[in-house]
Amino acid sequence: MVIVITGASSGIGYETAKFLSLKGYKVYGLSRRTFEDEHFVNLPCDITDYNRVKDCFEEIYQKEGRIDVLINNAGMGISGAVEYTENSDIKKIFDVNVLALINACKLVVPYLRKSGKGKIVNVSSVASTVPIPFQAFYSATKSAVQQFSYALRLELKQFKIDVSVVCPGDTKTNFTSSRVKDNVVEDELYGKRIVNSIQKMEKDEQNGMPPIEVSKIIYKIIKKNHSPACKTVGFGYKMIMLLVKILPTRFMLWVVSKLYG
Ligand SMILES: NC(=O)c1ccc[n+]([C@@H]2O[C@H](COP(=O)([O-])OP(=O)(O)OC[C@H]3O[C@@H](n4cnc5c(N)ncnc54)[C@H](OP(=O)(O)O)[C@@H]3O)[C@@H](O)[C@H]2O)c1
Repeated sequence: MVIVITGASSGIGYETAKFLSLKGYKVYGLSRRTFEDEHFVNLPCDITDYNRVKDCFEEIYQKEGRIDVLINNAGMGISGAVEYTENSDIKKIFDVNVLALINACKLVVPYLRKSGKGKIVNVSSVASTVPIPFQAFYSATKSAVQQFSYALRLELKQFKIDVSVVCPGDTKTNFTSSRVKDNVVEDELYGKRIVNSIQKMEKDEQNGMPPIEVSKIIYKIIKKNHSPACKTVGFGYKMIMLLVKILPTRFMLWVVSKLYG
């Protein structure tokens, strides 16, 4: 089985690429960084460069004769108040987290169809369902990923292509240090709210689960004959997702505001 995973140079993507190759799959990573790894092949690729992504899929297909699984994992974060965020940063996060993922799905479908069946696993986040203040754009992109994935799952059912979403909670990776934080400021309008909220979230991430926990869930999804539509990673986060669904929205937002100011 041939697996392509985006964002394989670090964190969840790296651990997953390594874990899956140790399980016997042929794994190709797509990330901007150039590196050699003993477990899998990484093709240098910016996923927002659609022609490059197209060429990478074709190169893998020519070499392996098939593509069976696409894991859309690459992602980025930005923090800060909505009104202070540059439009160029807003565009960037939607380009990387949403539009590039959609493009990769579009491009991979013909290859998966040629294999007779296939799987697409899109990495979203608990933040898709729990709206985080001063992380509005991140939550919005991950929500978009979730709804897009569900609709695509329905469209592709007839071709035996399963589309699944994985929602990790806080995970200890480089995501925290890579986040764009130009607008994390203390000022007369928001006081310390922005800084405090981001500090809490970053502390939770750095005390979060190891990325391998997410890799194990992705592995389970790939192995299943009929993959689930959505899997949240971690018992505590599963409970949070359940509560968000059953609690009145106003109450849920009040709880989030108590946690993140
Ligand atoms: N960490 C958490 O707490 C957490 C929680 C929920 C969901 N997630 C999601 O999990 C996924 C992986 O994040 P992580 O925590 O493992 O973070 P990470 O360690 O920062 O890894 C992010 C990966 O995305 C790649 N990437 C970013 N922009 C790219 C681009 N334009 N083209 C190609 N690759 C790109 C990076 O590779 P290059 O820089 O080499 O391109 C890197 O391999 C993300 O979608 C994130 O939203 C993370």
